[in-house]
Formats: sequence, structure tokens, C-alpha cells
Amino acid sequence: MDGVQTGAAQKLLDRQSLVAPLRGRILEIGPGRGVNLPHYPPEAEWVGIEPAGSKHRAIRRRARQLGRSVRLHAAGAEEIPLADASVDAVAGTFVLCSVRDVRAALAEIRRVLRPGATFVFLEHVAAPAGTRTRRLQHVWTRVPFAQCRPDQHTGEILKGADFTRVDYIETTARGVFGLQVPLIRGTAVR
Ligand SMILES: C[S@@+](CC[C@H](N)C(=O)[O-])C[C@H]1O[C@@H](n2cnc3c(N)ncnc32)[C@H](O)[C@@H]1O
Repeated sequence: MDGVQTGAAQKLLDRQSLVAPLRGRILEIGPGRGVNLPHYPPEAEWVGIEPAGSKHRAIRRRARQLGRSVRLHAAGAEEIPLADASVDAVAGTFVLCSVRDVRAALAEIRRVLRPGATFVFLEHVAAPAGTRTRRLQHVWTRVPFAQCRPDQHTGEILKGADFTRVDYIETTARGVFGLQVPLIRGTAVR
């Protein structure tokens, strides 16, 4: 998201307030270059699954700068290499649009969470039908190298997954070319 954001968008995009309250053993899916790493509590045990091995170096460098240890797996969220009910929280930001099989990934996230534990997410989602943003999202989704489906109804997919409770707030933020991009931010409880 670029450019000047409204107060509501700024609040929703704030990564610190999303992940800082998490405790214990935390799994982050698709951390990219580790942009969220500085915001986790220092005492938390951080495990990341990032299929793009090329990003692992950047994550490790950032972790060193922060003086924290990390455990990284080159895997996708559709097959999380962790035991059932073994993490206290899962976090993901701008990832579910990239995951090949989002329903399989949500089932895996649920599986690794301890009962009652939470998945926190921040995602861009499909714009309302008929809008210019939606038309462009539709085109982008069909670009073979894009690796992202911006026209995905991630909120509805989350609500249809097997969590005990899913809550999110939605707003729009200014994206590329000044487009108003809908975002969701919330929690899914196992
Ligand atoms: C748009 S980037 C977001 C990176 C970071 N989370 C952020 O907030 O900037 C999407 C990330 O998801 C990763 N990714 C793609 N497919 C994935 C999958 N199946 N499981 C987990 N992560 C995946 C990509 O490699 C990339 O690092």
C-alpha cells in the first residue's frame, strides 16, 4: 500500500498492534523478508514458513540485527511441517492471496494451533463487483507471473473454514495507481 492513508487505513495497516500482543510459540506464514519481525515480543519463540528460500537470508539478517533467534522452514502453508496443536498463535500479512490452496492452508493453520489459540491476519481482498479496482484485480489475477490473486474473497473463505470464531474489520487503503483497495484485519480462533 502506498501514498497517504486515511486514519482508518493506517490503523488497520499497523503491523505492531497486530503481532505485538502474541505470546509463546508463534508461527508466521509467508514472512517475506521478515518485515513483521521487529514487532513480536522479544521473548516469543518465532517460527517462520517461507517457501521462497531466496528470502531466508534477509530474514536471518534481520533477526541477527534484532538479536533474536528464528527457526525457518522452506515450506508452504498448505503443508506446515509442525505437529498438531503445537503453536500458541499464527500470524500472516498479505499472504493468503499468494497461497496456492488457501482452504488447505487454513486447515493446516487450524491443525497446528492449540485449542483456543488465534490466527491473526491482515490481507487485501476483492473489491466490490463492478468497480474499476475489481476489474484490475481480475486482470492481475490472470497474469501468469503475478503469484497473487487480489480478487480473492479471503474474508468469506476464512468464515467458511473450520474455526470456532472469525472476526475482522474491513476498510480501504490507497494502493498502486491510487486505487482504493479493500483490506481485512482480524482473528480466527481455533
Ligand atoms: C506479498 S508477500 C508478503 C510478505 C510479508 N508477509 C509482508 O507482509 O510483506 C507474500 C509472501 O507469501 C509467500 N508465500 C507464497 N506462497 C506461500 C505459501 N503457499 N505458503 C506460505 N507462504 C507463501 C511468498 O513467498 C511471499 O514471501
